[in-house]
Amino acid sequence: MNLIYCEDYAELSRKAASVVASQLILNPSSVLGLATGNTPIGCYAQLVEAVLNGDISFSEARTFNLDEYVGASREDEQSFGHFMDTHLFSKVDLNPENINLLDGRAKDIGQECLRYDEKLGFVQCGIDCQILGVGRNGHIGFNEPDDHFPLNTHIVDLEEGTIEAQRAYYAPGAVIPTQGITMGMRPIMGAKQVILLASGESKAAILEEALFGLVKPEIPASILRFHGNLTVIADRAALSVIIEKHPSVVL
Ligand code: GLP
Repeated sequence: MNLIYCEDYAELSRKAASVVASQLILNPSSVLGLATGNTPIGCYAQLVEAVLNGDISFSEARTFNLDEYVGASREDEQSFGHFMDTHLFSKVDLNPENINLLDGRAKDIGQECLRYDEKLGFVQCGIDCQILGVGRNGHIGFNEPDDHFPLNTHIVDLEEGTIEAQRAYYAPGAVIPTQGITMGMRPIMGAKQVILLASGESKAAILEEALFGLVKPEIPASILRFHGNLTVIADRAALSVIIEKHPSVVL
């Protein structure tokens, strides 16, 4: 595991974007696994700037997003598809045909999961670079704590804390989705490179547990320790418990 210390969120965003940018420079037709949430927003903003500067291009790249809410369509403001359109897709030169999103409005969610896995299966060499955030309960994508590590794309009942974390994005009294669809561990663990981003004090305890505790499905992010090419990019606040408990690893 490669642990990259950043002083703050701005540095984390620049460093994460630099990793993705170098991936695209070395292999313009890279397959990128993309995450939503607040954490990667700064990274996406940096990538947009790099495209505008002419330093990188997404024109040959393909993308797969990790997850979506059941019931949400790309047009819904709170959907992850809309999030991606807002922060990245509408601002870079990606070919719309090369964007892969889960359809939370699919009539048959089971079929939608199979369609996504089939699409992922067509990508011969898998995902080149998978960007991940981490939930406060250790979830990656919407792989919530469980008694096993689900391998394939599947439907998930979201934990109360995960639902609560979304409340800030909804109007008061609005119904917040209680289920998600998420890529499973197979494509994530099969990615050539995994970049885990963590920012802020609210991630400090879970980051320490995931990276230094037991590998177990109750802490889904802990599985990443078995990945051969994991880079964790985190800011001082997210690293605070690790700095306290394992100072030699960071300093
Ligand atoms: C959501 C997403 C995850 C994301 C996580 C953390 O639940 N499904 O993919 O990593 O939240 O979000 P944030 O970066 O806002 O803390």
